[in-house]
Amino acid sequence: MEQARKRADALRLEIETHRRAYYVDNDPQVSDAEYDELERELVDLERRYPELVTPDSPTQRVGGEPAEGFEPYTHASPLLSLDNAYGADELREWDARLRRALDDAPAPSYMVEPKVDGLSIAIHFEDGRLRRGVTRGDGLVGEDVTSNVRTIRSIPLRLAAGETRALEARGEVYLPRSVFERLNEKRAAEGEPLFANPRNAAAGALRMLDPRITAERRLDCFFYDVAAWGGDPRATHEQNFELLHRLGLRTNPLNRLCGTIDEVIDAFEELGRRRDMLDYEIDGLVVKVNELPLRGIAGATSKFPRWAVAVKYPAQQATTTVRKILVQVGRTGKLTPVAELEPVQLAGTTVSRATLHNEDEVERKDVRVGDTVLIEKAGEIIPQVVKTVPTKRPEGTRKFKMPARCPVCGSAAIREEGEAARYCSNVACPAQQKEKLLHFAGRGGMDIQGLGEALVDQLLDQGLVKDVSGLYDLEREALEGLERMAAKSAANLLDEIERSKQRPLRRLLFGLGIRHVGERAAGLLARLGSIEALAGAEPEELEALDEIGPKTAAAVGQFFEQPANRELVDRLAAAGVRTEASEEELAPAPGAVEPSPFTGKTVVLTGTLPGIPRSAAKARIEYLGGKVSGSVSKKTDLVVAGEAAGSKRTKAEALGVTIMEAEEFAAWMKS
Ligand code: IVH
Repeated sequence: MEQARKRADALRLEIETHRRAYYVDNDPQVSDAEYDELERELVDLERRYPELVTPDSPTQRVGGEPAEGFEPYTHASPLLSLDNAYGADELREWDARLRRALDDAPAPSYMVEPKVDGLSIAIHFEDGRLRRGVTRGDGLVGEDVTSNVRTIRSIPLRLAAGETRALEARGEVYLPRSVFERLNEKRAAEGEPLFANPRNAAAGALRMLDPRITAERRLDCFFYDVAAWGGDPRATHEQNFELLHRLGLRTNPLNRLCGTIDEVIDAFEELGRRRDMLDYEIDGLVVKVNELPLRGIAGATSKFPRWAVAVKYPAQQATTTVRKILVQVGRTGKLTPVAELEPVQLAGTTVSRATLHNEDEVERKDVRVGDTVLIEKAGEIIPQVVKTVPTKRPEGTRKFKMPARCPVCGSAAIREEGEAARYCSNVACPAQQKEKLLHFAGRGGMDIQGLGEALVDQLLDQGLVKDVSGLYDLEREALEGLERMAAKSAANLLDEIERSKQRPLRRLLFGLGIRHVGERAAGLLARLGSIEALAGAEPEELEALDEIGPKTAAAVGQFFEQPANRELVDRLAAAGVRTEASEEELAPAPGAVEPSPFTGKTVVLTGTLPGIPRSAAKARIEYLGGKVSGSVSKKTDLVVAGEAAGSKRTKAEALGVTIMEAEEFAAWMKS
């Protein structure tokens, strides 16, 4: 027992040191696998000796039951907000006002910090332990979100260097862009509404009642202020950062001390050029007087401190007019209103459409045909209408009304209680069928090359297919009769369709487009062994699978309850489509595979790998938890470079993407 306690203490210390190196200093000292091994040993030890568990143990980041609500908490000192300056000229004006307020005091220096677009948070440490995390709220009273804050890996549960003096640190919690994109891809695949931007997604995550969900969102945090400290007072803000860093709190490595306002302007412009390359969104810089005594002299106006300002970059927005409002019908029959716009340049691309999300959104924003609207690019997703410009509304416009019938098939479009959207009630609706076919044949599904939008339109128009099972009855003569379909392409398409019959079960499950079943859920469901087993499973059985929640379980049940869907599955099976899981799908539970350099990573293969077919390399990477993508971009985490790797390798090098050589990869091919 005594020995176990000692080992647990030693492990905690070691894990904490590595966590800090990884999350705070961005300088990992061990491989992820070694780190995970330490955590596993500790979990094991604590499982055997529960009395050894301490609240600040790294195993205790996610714990307890979902909360009922959040307690209000009054901040000891208010969380102020800042006055804005737009561009260099206004920044100089701010500086001039500051210098007048400082009168004959010595000239200040300026701390310049990226203004990360997230949510401010106050974190209290007592006796060296994370005691409380509180949102900003209205600046005076926030909400206690401690259990959610504990899930953020860059925030320590214990201060470094054995420090026990009281500390209140403030900072910005945010969602990294890469995580945001993955989250939205997943939501799109599962038919869930997308987050407009990382900030909204972060705000949602921080206020989740169930910390397990917050933990999945992978929030991050930069600290930028010391609001209270039991040690010596500091003379400069630079010393605040030194203190935060010494105590193990993450600060932004791009923070920079500037001697003059000209230097600040240079920093503003330079960061403006680099902002698209950061893994977080910034909307400007925060400029603060570095010398703390000078802050006291500068004082505050009725609203803001005079000693700091937020300099903003021009927003990525534009105005244009609405030509039309279309209503699109998705795969699930969901009706989405879309504004067709007079084309306009926005953040480097021409934009001619913007989503209006749903009925309530159009209603709330009252967007009408003919309106001048402000549009905005939020994150990487399609632009959205921020608002209309009422003064520019022409005479005689009419309020937009969502149609009560499907614009494609004319069936009733129904909005159920509690749903934000209307759905076309006709399962045979051609618009739905089209989207269903595209989804089925798409990359995450059966991956039928050559089955694009134009072809799907023709197949449906000519009545050659009615649903996805019809693809397997297509005949050569019929295909050759279609527009722009030569004998060769018809043969290729039939080959592709034939090949798709052997795709793993998870791809079929994803391809069927069951609500809430994205690629990941499909992989987990495939582990039941066959589509028959899945169709016969009770929702409770499904929920018992790790990571399958009640929504997904219910959606699967509803799907198989419908005779039309059962018949569809029967037709697919009769056509020879694989409905049993492959060995590879049954082998390891995804989480059970040892962590590897590919786990959770987007990987690109390039060049030839001696003796390893590309399909085998891809399957192996997927088995090891990675995702294989075709082209190198900012989103690529790792490039596996074989012989004669050409431009992809060069591009990866230019982007600073990690490269794994063929030899090392060959070792990962063996288990
Ligand atoms: S300092 C009096 N520093 O911007 C100082 N704020 O309006 C108050 N923010 O609510 C804040 N990065 O959420 C500060 N490096 C930074 C910041 C930052 C982002 C946010 C913060 C605050 C708002 C200011």
